[in-house]
Amino acid sequence: MTPVRNRCCRTRMAAFTIKRSSFKVLIKLTGFFPLSALVAMTAGCGDIDPAEGRARLHLPPENYVADVTRGFAEYQAFCSTCHGPVGRGSRQGPPLVDKTYEPSHHPDMSFHLAVKNGVRQHHWNFGDMPARTNVNPEATADIAAYIRELQVRAGIN
Ligand code: HEC
Repeated sequence: MTPVRNRCCRTRMAAFTIKRSSFKVLIKLTGFFPLSALVAMTAGCGDIDPAEGRARLHLPPENYVADVTRGFAEYQAFCSTCHGPVGRGSRQGPPLVDKTYEPSHHPDMSFHLAVKNGVRQHHWNFGDMPARTNVNPEATADIAAYIRELQVRAGIN
């Protein structure tokens, strides 16, 4: 019994060490990034018009009014396989109707970024969320509105 447990621990430690060392390599490779990114951002500042800026962040036009009913349908089509039919999670993904995702910790922007870029596993153990490139900014805003409504009904706000 003891050897089995030890082997398990060693495997875990090895995985952890690999994670740490690849992170270090990543930092080495991208060490120049913050400065160059800052330069690029400052240089581009005057050129980006607000609508384009919003589109780049996967946000709908400023005057877009999110619709909970549409959000319900879009959620069923694009998110429910992992986040569950009513946002309570599934074997493939976490509940979004959960205190973890209350607006003060995960504002609507985190929905737009999750859909645009995907999510690296960090709160749970379901693995990464892949980007949902077939879900446009308007649909994402609708879905966020629908989830917020479910959260409020569950006393999360
Ligand atoms: C293939 C499964 C899968 C699908 C489909 C999926 N998600 Fe996720 N999502 C995940 C997993 C897994 C996480 C949790 C990652 C973690 O924190 O460990 C997550 C996390 C999130 C988060 C939290 C982001 C953060 O900043 O921590 C949001 C918001 C989210 N999903 C929204 C959506 C929306 C909206 C859709 C549908 C358009 C969707 N997801 C579809 C698997 C999925």
